[in-house]
Amino acid sequence: MAERIFIGVAWPYANGPLHLGHIAGAYLPADIFARYHRVKGNEVLMVSGSDQHGTPVTLRAEAEGKTPQEVVNRYHQGFLDCWKKLGISFDLFTTTETQNHAHVAQDFFLKLLDKGYIYKDKMSLPYCPKCVRFLPDRYVEGTCPYCGSPRARGDQCDDCGKPLNPADLINPHCSICKSTPEIRDSEHFFLRLSAFSDRLKSWVQEQSHWRSNVLNFTLRYLTEGLRDRAITRDIEWGIPVPLPGYEKKRIYVWFEAVIGYLSASKEWAQSKGEDERWRKFWEGDTKGYYFIGKDNIVFHTIIWPAMLMGYEGLNLPYNVPANEFLTLEGRKLSTSHNWAVWLPDYLERYPADPLRYLMSANMPETSDADFSWREFVRRNNDELVATYGNLVQRTLTFAYRNFDRCVPSVGELDAESNALLKKAEDTLATVDRLLYTCHFREAVREIMALAQEANRYLDNKAPWKKINEDRDSAATAIFTIIGVISCLKTVFYPFLPFSSERLHRLLGFDGEVGDRGWAFTVPQAGQRLPPPEHLFAKLDDKIVEKENALLEQSILHTN
Ligand code: MF3
Ligand code: ZN
Repeated sequence: MAERIFIGVAWPYANGPLHLGHIAGAYLPADIFARYHRVKGNEVLMVSGSDQHGTPVTLRAEAEGKTPQEVVNRYHQGFLDCWKKLGISFDLFTTTETQNHAHVAQDFFLKLLDKGYIYKDKMSLPYCPKCVRFLPDRYVEGTCPYCGSPRARGDQCDDCGKPLNPADLINPHCSICKSTPEIRDSEHFFLRLSAFSDRLKSWVQEQSHWRSNVLNFTLRYLTEGLRDRAITRDIEWGIPVPLPGYEKKRIYVWFEAVIGYLSASKEWAQSKGEDERWRKFWEGDTKGYYFIGKDNIVFHTIIWPAMLMGYEGLNLPYNVPANEFLTLEGRKLSTSHNWAVWLPDYLERYPADPLRYLMSANMPETSDADFSWREFVRRNNDELVATYGNLVQRTLTFAYRNFDRCVPSVGELDAESNALLKKAEDTLATVDRLLYTCHFREAVREIMALAQEANRYLDNKAPWKKINEDRDSAATAIFTIIGVISCLKTVFYPFLPFSSERLHRLLGFDGEVGDRGWAFTVPQAGQRLPPPEHLFAKLDDKIVEKENALLEQSILHTN
């Protein structure tokens, strides 16, 4: 029976371009998962959008001397361009700027207020007398009360991952003028998180299918006790509080951004001309998956579930397969120090699939993983080109030249050939199970092992030696490998969609890979083959040095 799968992917702040860390952390695994389920014949809705509010955007705008809207527009366009080039197949990638989103978020706010899960209270907040303003979130910096990191900001400590309130910071200072803020009272709305403590605890304890890092982080957080959190801010950029008397306040960016999953689903339904169709992905036995980086865990395993519990009637997340971090050449990625490979730069110079391959084979699923240009070139050349590409190339070229541009016909297959085809079938089943449970790295390993096995078989059968003396044996080998290649294009499709589609056509099939389902479709004897082409291009070793030099040049030594 077809399943229904909702896939929410973290909404990137529209305050800078995407880098490889974003891709390895959330967008690539989400896309692999979505493509896999679509091929399986399941109904998928994958949404996200630009997170355009909050202090990350206003700080950037102030730094650039632009309006927040100008900053947002520029980066949103850039995101759309990247998804297209990298093949990230959103059903909808919208923004938090839409009227629809504002309405859905305000409705959510009012409903929780009505049910008593949101209440008003006075709050002591840092106020910068020099800048004449309250200092919400990233406008105040200081020392983290939990881990002692000196780099904590008023919304979160990036070093220990704890969400913070501005007043929690030790030795706070204004991030604009560096002066020490005074404390003033301001009235704000609070989310009564404490009311969900017990329900959250028992719900989280049932999620034994979650990754252990996600589960343990969440449980530890719950054990420390939930505090109510302010969900409005003294700021002008954001969604207005839908009540009179609060014109100068805005809804907190995190409270409204997570609601984006719901509002985007509604926008998607409207765009299909079926306004209520979103319900299929939020009610009943639909499973909701949220692909995020580890710095967003609390918001997706505690705060968003609490909001949904309060709202009632919508599905809680089924899984939150958060990834760990990607490091770059052994160092922590840093956007502020410009220690990053920016996705638009990458896509200008190289094709999508080699990056998708490296990031999948080396995904930071259970621990941090490193990206290096050396590994990028090595894996492209040794694995994509020499193992997978070469298998395809020598087989299809041979068939094209020696078997009349067709898949050869064969008699009974020998044991060795049957064993290889059986291994292909087993790989299809294994990868199915691994992708279903979000084990992406392991799936890639299984697939490459099949390609290696097929190369050994081909070397052993050496049809190029046999073609004159024993044409049947050569035909058997080529027929068998064409079968395996056809299986490879399916199991690789979620990871390498561009090359799989090309291979699909190179095997003489019509339509798209997905049309054939998650199945082992052995090309028929006599199926016509188009002229063979290389699936992947070898990369010059020189690019390692060149890219590393560019990285070193661009790093900003701000400390
Ligand atoms: N904009 C946030 C970030 O980049 C992620 C928001 S995810 C959402 O860290 F769920 F809130 F949308
Ligand atoms: Zn100041």
